[in-house]
Amino acid sequence: MIGKKMAEALNLQMNREFFNARLYLSMAAYLESLNLPGASHWMELQSQEETGHAMRLYRYLRERGARIVLSGVDAPPTEWKSPRDAFEAAYEHECKVTREFDEHMALAEAEKDHASRIFLQWFVNEQVEEEAHADDIVQKFKMIGDSKNGLFMMDRHLGDRKAG
Ligand SMILES: [Fe+2]
Ligand SMILES: [Fe+2]
Repeated sequence: MIGKKMAEALNLQMNREFFNARLYLSMAAYLESLNLPGASHWMELQSQEETGHAMRLYRYLRERGARIVLSGVDAPPTEWKSPRDAFEAAYEHECKVTREFDEHMALAEAEKDHASRIFLQWFVNEQVEEEAHADDIVQKFKMIGDSKNGLFMMDRHLGDRKAG
């Protein structure tokens, strides 16, 4: 049986991951409205990954005998200044999520909850990837500047993202 504090922290994170899924889906909808199907596709897949994260937490809590509570989810933003602005927001959001998992890891260590520590290790590693991928896209947006041609190529590139 998992400790109360740890269960609460992971339950909170599960709800945050459901928010993250809606945040990226909102970005996908925004990019679609700009006629950028590739960038929108990238964000849709990102949204699916976040749902996967939430479910990974759900199943872990279930296995550890925790009572799982789904909370109300805040509405995500709907507008960004530009495609680049949306990806910058995604990058900054991932940095925030990394800090959240660092806190959960610190709690697992303090509670000597080794199962949760090992479980959380996957997310710590995942966040390294998440930050790197988002940052890579932001850097490419910086490179193309205001070029319409660049944006067109970028959209094609983002559209190549495969699930998983
Ligand atoms: Fe996530
Ligand atoms: Fe993420």
